[in-house]
Amino acid sequence: MKYMKTVEKSSMTKQTSFTKMASGTSADYAIIAKHSAEFASKLPDRILAHLELLKGDTGGFAIDRYEHSLQAATRAFRDGRDDEYVVCALLHDIGDTIASANHADLAATMLKPFVSEQNYWIVKHHGIFQGYYFFHHLGMDRNARDKFKGNDNWHACAEFCAKYDQNSFDPDYDNMELNEFRDMVQSVFKNPKRSIAMAYQNDTDSS
Ligand SMILES: [Fe+2]
Ligand SMILES: [Fe+2]
Repeated sequence: MKYMKTVEKSSMTKQTSFTKMASGTSADYAIIAKHSAEFASKLPDRILAHLELLKGDTGGFAIDRYEHSLQAATRAFRDGRDDEYVVCALLHDIGDTIASANHADLAATMLKPFVSEQNYWIVKHHGIFQGYYFFHHLGMDRNARDKFKGNDNWHACAEFCAKYDQNSFDPDYDNMELNEFRDMVQSVFKNPKRSIAMAYQNDTDSS
C-alpha cells in the first residue's frame, strides 16, 4: 500500500510519507512521537487483553492459567501487598502463551521499565524458584534456586512462590475479577521508570 502524504486532518490521523527512516525529518518524527504516546497510553488495555489469552488452558492443573493468575493476584492483594506487587502477581505467567520455554523472562521484560528491581527479579526468577515444589517429581533438582542464594532478592522470590504462586491452583478459592485489578494495572503502566531511550538520554544503565 502506498503511504499517504502528510495530511492535516487531526494530529492522530497525520501520517508521514517517508519510506526509509533515514529520510524522516524532525516534523515527521514529531508526528510519530504523537502516535507513539497515543499507542503507549493503551498499553494496559493490550496487556489485559493478552492476559485473557490464558483462558482455557489448564496445562493439566485444576484451574486454567488465567484463573491461576487472578488467584495469585488476589492472594497478594488480600495479603496487603502494594499495587505494583499485585500487578506482578497478576502478570507473572502472561508469557505462557508465546514463551513456553522461558515464560518468566517474557513477563519480566514487559514489567522491567515499570517496577522496582526486586519485583522485576522476582518475576524473572519465579520459574526456577517455583521448581522447588515440583522439579524433584520430574527427576530434576528442586533446589536449583539455591544457585541464587547469595542474591538479596532470594527470600523475596521464595516468598512469592510460597505464598502466592505454588498455592494458586484452587478451584474453590474466591478469585477477584480482572476488572478489580484494572486501575492497578493502569497505574503501574502509566509511566516507565526506565526505558531504552531514557537510559541513553540520561546515561543510566538499563541493563
Ligand atoms: Fe510461572
Ligand atoms: Fe504461576
